[in-house]
Amino acid sequence: MMRILILSLFYYSSRLVLAANPTYNVQSYGAKSDGKSDCTKAFLSAWGAACATTAPATIYVPPGRYLLRNAYFSGSVCNNTAITIRIDGTLVAPSDYNAIGNIGSWLKFERATGVSIYGGTLDGQGTKLWACKNSGNNCPKGATSLAFYNSNNIRINSLVSLNSQMFHILFDGCRNVNLSNVRVSAPGNSPNTDGIHIHQSSDVTITNSHIATGDDCVSIGPGASNLWIENFDCGPGHGISIGSLGWDMNEAGVKNVTVKTATFTGTENGVRVKTWARPSNGFVTNVVFQHLVMVNVQNPVIIDQNYCPDHQACPHQGSGVKISNVRYEDIHGTSATQVAVKFDCSQTRPCSGIRLDGVNLTFRDKPATASCSNAGGSADGVVNPSSCL
Ligand SMILES: *[C@@H]1O[C@H](CO)[C@@H](O)[C@H](O)[C@H]1NC(C)=O
Ligand SMILES: *[C@@H]1O[C@H](CO)[C@@H](O)[C@H](O)[C@H]1NC(C)=O
Ligand SMILES: *[C@@H]1O[C@H](CO)[C@@H](O)[C@H](O)[C@H]1NC(C)=O
Ligand SMILES: *[C@@H]1O[C@H](CO)[C@@H](O)[C@H](O)[C@H]1NC(C)=O
Repeated sequence: MMRILILSLFYYSSRLVLAANPTYNVQSYGAKSDGKSDCTKAFLSAWGAACATTAPATIYVPPGRYLLRNAYFSGSVCNNTAITIRIDGTLVAPSDYNAIGNIGSWLKFERATGVSIYGGTLDGQGTKLWACKNSGNNCPKGATSLAFYNSNNIRINSLVSLNSQMFHILFDGCRNVNLSNVRVSAPGNSPNTDGIHIHQSSDVTITNSHIATGDDCVSIGPGASNLWIENFDCGPGHGISIGSLGWDMNEAGVKNVTVKTATFTGTENGVRVKTWARPSNGFVTNVVFQHLVMVNVQNPVIIDQNYCPDHQACPHQGSGVKISNVRYEDIHGTSATQVAVKFDCSQTRPCSGIRLDGVNLTFRDKPATASCSNAGGSADGVVNPSSCL
């Protein structure tokens, strides 16, 4: 008994420390948990109060539903670099998508340092906007549910994001980001609902997370480096995608990306690298895909450097993005199409250093195949379908 008590004290000591921090309860600033009253001002007031101090502070959101319009949490007028937002409730976006549909992000943090979000559910209420988009009407682009711009030392733990209008979670210009136990959920046919988008950011770790959505589970844009994604489920969704890259001539490269121990179920892609067929000085290098399980995935392993919808805007039809040193290790399961491995590289800058080691992908009762163009590299161990490198 004593031992359990001591262990639990040890285990919960971090919470006790948190509890001892000054706590700013959003209800004390006027937030109502009825899901109908606009709580935007109350949340921003709690943020302002926490920002006026320098000791580690907690903003607390009790159970219940809190309606928020677009909220901008500015770090540039914040003196506090240790703010924890502990959420026991659900933050709800306005049901009229026009209220936030044209402003980029619903909940936006900018130039913030040391923000941690623990728990909570974000309900983006995207259903009506997707219906508008799917019927081809003139619809707003939609808002990303949770966005961090130019922010450092961000930690997100045990957050749930439901039905975002556009992306669920976005990092742009950020450094040192940890996400764990994050759950993202939207239907497979919800347009542009990328789970986590990483752009121009470094040292981003995503662990123990589950993403089910209508677009990429994780999308990795230009200038991303030192990414680590581990213990991860994706599906439905479009898989993990590095790209699309290479739209711009001058573009920062992607380097040092590890994706390990992940399962893809019924997704459009497993692990993909995708570039526009346009001139660019971008690159992708030092990528490891390891211990992956594919369950009925359309393109389990794919490099597509000839992306150019409608054959427009690609004057030379060759991607300038150089792809090198990409390793695929211990990847097995089932492909939903016969071509389980596809390396469609640039005719102007061929892929180099593609390595396959221990790949076994099957396709129903027919042999799966691999297809290569302009791809150089090597294969080791069991490689099925046999390597075309
Ligand atoms: C931050 O500290 C400065 C200097 O003490 C002060 O003038 C400013 O009002 C503080 N900012 C906030 C948001 O409280
Ligand atoms: C993220 O996790 C790594 C490794 O677990 C740790 O070194 C780093 O300090 C963490 N970053 C934050 C912002 O908590
Ligand atoms: C690659 O990224 C990981 C974090 O994901 C980091 O620990 C490691 O030091 C990086 N390697 C290089 C060579 O920068
Ligand atoms: C590849 O996977 C299939 C289906 O799971 C299995 O029957 C086969 O033995 C595996 N091949 C190798 C060489 O491991």
